Amino acid sequence: MCGIVGCILKENNDVAPILFYCILKLEYRGYDSIGLATYDNKIHVKKDQGNIETVNNRIHFKEMKGSCGIAHTRWASTGIPNYENAHPHLDDTNSIAVVHNGTLENYLDLKDELIKLGHTFKSTTDTEVIPHLIKIFMNEGLDLENAVKKCCQKLKGSYAIVAMSKDEPDKLIATRKDSPLIIAQNKDGYFVSSDIPAVLDYSRDIYRPKEGEFVIMTKESIEIHDENGEKIDPEYIYIDWSPKMAKKDGYDYFMIKEIHEQSLAVKNTLTQKTNIKKIIDEIGDIKRICFVACGTSYHASITGKYLIESQKGIPCDVIIASEYKYTAKTWDEDTLVIFISQSGETYDSRMALKEARKTSKTLAIVNVAGSAMTQEAEYFIQTQAGPEIGVAATKTYIAQLTAIYLFAGLLAENDELIEKLNKVPEYIEEIVKQEKLIEDISKRYDFADNAFYLGRGFSYPIALEGALKLKEISYIHAEGYAAGELKHGPLALINEKVPVIVIIPPGDDYDKTMVNLQEVKAREAIILSIGAKGDEKLRENSRIVVEINPEVTDIIAPLVYTVPLQLLSYYVTVEKGYNPDQPRNLAKVITV
Ligand code: AGP
Repeated sequence: MCGIVGCILKENNDVAPILFYCILKLEYRGYDSIGLATYDNKIHVKKDQGNIETVNNRIHFKEMKGSCGIAHTRWASTGIPNYENAHPHLDDTNSIAVVHNGTLENYLDLKDELIKLGHTFKSTTDTEVIPHLIKIFMNEGLDLENAVKKCCQKLKGSYAIVAMSKDEPDKLIATRKDSPLIIAQNKDGYFVSSDIPAVLDYSRDIYRPKEGEFVIMTKESIEIHDENGEKIDPEYIYIDWSPKMAKKDGYDYFMIKEIHEQSLAVKNTLTQKTNIKKIIDEIGDIKRICFVACGTSYHASITGKYLIESQKGIPCDVIIASEYKYTAKTWDEDTLVIFISQSGETYDSRMALKEARKTSKTLAIVNVAGSAMTQEAEYFIQTQAGPEIGVAATKTYIAQLTAIYLFAGLLAENDELIEKLNKVPEYIEEIVKQEKLIEDISKRYDFADNAFYLGRGFSYPIALEGALKLKEISYIHAEGYAAGELKHGPLALINEKVPVIVIIPPGDDYDKTMVNLQEVKAREAIILSIGAKGDEKLRENSRIVVEINPEVTDIIAPLVYTVPLQLLSYYVTVEKGYNPDQPRNLAKVITV
C-alpha cells in the first residue's frame, strides 16, 4: 500500500515543496521509499529508498522546479524496497511518469508482451508497465487522457494512478479502481491524493472520484470525466477535520497524541445517537447479524457480537474479512452484515461488502468521511475520532466501540447501557492520568520475548486487542486468549520469564478469571493485572496492578480497560527505541 499525490499550481513554479509537504502527510500509508516527478521543460525525477525525511536530506526534493508534479510514498508489495522500485516510474523515453497505489494482477503478462515489443524495464514492480502502455497509446495518436483510459482497460487488479506526459505539459490525469483517491482545489491550484490528510492544509472540500471516472487537471481547471469523456459535476463534501488534528501538536508521536484524544473521540461519537436510531428504524427486522472486519476492527466486532447477543438475543457471527467467502453463502435478506473499518478502504472488507450487497442489508461503521465503504454500504455510521495517523489503531477503535455500544443499546432499548456510556470519557481520562505509572511498568517489560493476555467474556476481545497492539509496534510476540482456553494448551508455555496480562474487571466473570490467574501464578508468571481500584485480592495475587475506577464493570470494560494496554504497548515500544507510528512491514490502510 502506498500514498500518491499530484498537484498543479496555477501561477507559481514551486510545486515541489507542496508535493513534499503533501506526501509527508501520507507517510503513514508507506515509508520504505519516496519519489517526486515535476515538469520543467522535461520530466525530472528524484526518488530513493528510505523514509521521507532521510531521503529528502540526501536528495533535496524541494529544489525541484516546475508548477506540475506527482509524488509517491511506498510500502513495497510487488518488488523489494530499492531505488529502482521507488516511484515515479517512467517509460523508455522518459516522456511519461506515473505514480500508482494498488496491485496489478496481470502485470507479468503485460510485461512479457511489452518486452517482446522491445521495451526495457528497470524495476521489478507491477507499476512500470503503466507508463510503457500509456506511451504506446500516445504514439498511436491518443491524447494523455485517452491513453490512460485505454491503458486502464488492459489492467487487472487495483489501482489509483496519476500520470503526466512531457508531450502535454502541465496536465495530470488520475483515475482509480479499488484504491482510494480524492481531489481538492484552492485559489492557488489543484490537488489529487490518496487520502485527506495530504490536502487538509489546502482545502477541506473534497471529492472522491468513482470508479470509471477520470480526473483531468490543468493550470486552468480540474474536471471529472466519465468513461465516455463527458464532463460531470462532482459533489464535494466538507471534511470536518482541522489541519491541526492531523499534526503531532507537541507530542513525540501520533500514537500517544491519539491515545490522549480518546475521551474526546467517545464524546464526539456519542453525538451520533440520533443517526444510529434512525438507521436502526430504517433497517427494520433482522434475524441475524454478521460482522466483517480485519485486525483491530475485528476485535471491535467480537465485542459487538457479545453485546448484541447478550442484550438483544439476535444471533451474530464475526468473520475475518479475508475469510468471508465461506460464510457469504449463508447471508440472506434477513441478515444484516455490519462492516467495521476505520479507513473505510480495506480491500478485504470491501470485497466482502460487494458480495453482501447482493443478498443482504449492509451497514458500514467507518471513521473516514466519504471513504469507499461509506459509498458502497446501504447504511453507514461515521465514528467521530478525527484523523488517525499512527499505524496502530487506538482512538478509532474506541470510537468504533462507542458506535457499536450505541447501536446495541438502541437496538435492545437498553437505556441503562446507553446511560453508562456518558461516563466513559471521564474513566478514560482517569487512566491517562496514570500514564507515568504505566511508563514505569513498561520498563520492566522491554526484556520480554513473549507475552500472554487473558480475559473472559467482554474482556476476551480486550485481551486480543492488547496483544495485537503489543506485537505490531514492539515486535514482542504476544497472544490474547480467552482465559478459560489457557488450560487447553498455552499453559504449557507459562513460566517465570513470561509476562501474563490479566484483564479482570468486576462482574460475572471475575471469579472464574481469578482461578485462571491462580493457574498462571502457580507457574510463577509475571502477572500484570488490570482491575478495579481497591481490589485487595487482585493485589495479593499479582505482581503489578493497574487500577481502574470500580464503577467500570465487565460490560463496558472494552471501552476503558483497553486504554492502559495501549499505553503499555506504546511505552514498551519507545523504551525499545522503535517508532510506534511506523511499525516495520505495516501500513495504515491495506488497499491490496
Ligand atoms: C490496527 O492497529 C492495525 N494496524 C490493523 O489491524 C487495522 O485495524 C486493520 O488493518 C483494519 O483496518 P481498517 O479498520 O481500516 O479496516
